Amino acid sequence: MSDIDDLIKAASNARECAYAPYSNFKVGAALRTASGNIFSGCNVENAAYPEGLCAEASAIAAMVRAGEQTIVEALVLGDGESLCTPCGGCRQKLREFASDDTPIHVCDPEGLRKTISLGVLLPHSFGPEHLK
Ligand code: THU
Repeated sequence: MSDIDDLIKAASNARECAYAPYSNFKVGAALRTASGNIFSGCNVENAAYPEGLCAEASAIAAMVRAGEQTIVEALVLGDGESLCTPCGGCRQKLREFASDDTPIHVCDPEGLRKTISLGVLLPHSFGPEHLK
């Protein structure tokens, strides 16, 4: 039992709910917040392709809806040979509620493949501080 097993479980359960009839690429995401709570999400595609929603975005929406705004750890789970790293848009979405040193765990159905900090995924990022 590792300390991210709870996040893996949440992302894996969420992934089961993914609606991905166009790409057939199901993704689950889980976020741990400062309070210790976990929020999960799955991708939700749309016949109008650009209207699809990524798993990370759906988890962030659940978190904000619950009144939380600080991500201390995030996990993305998808299948395939390549690492299922968050897309560019999701890196920016995570950035809003996380910091450069926030670990992003990249998993497949077998488990953890790589942990990368958000600052490495999205260097020199633009964030809320820029608007203060
Ligand atoms: N997808 C995510 O949910 N998160 C990512 O960060 C990468 C891509 C989804 C979007 C789409 O439904 C499917 O994966 C294929 O791109």
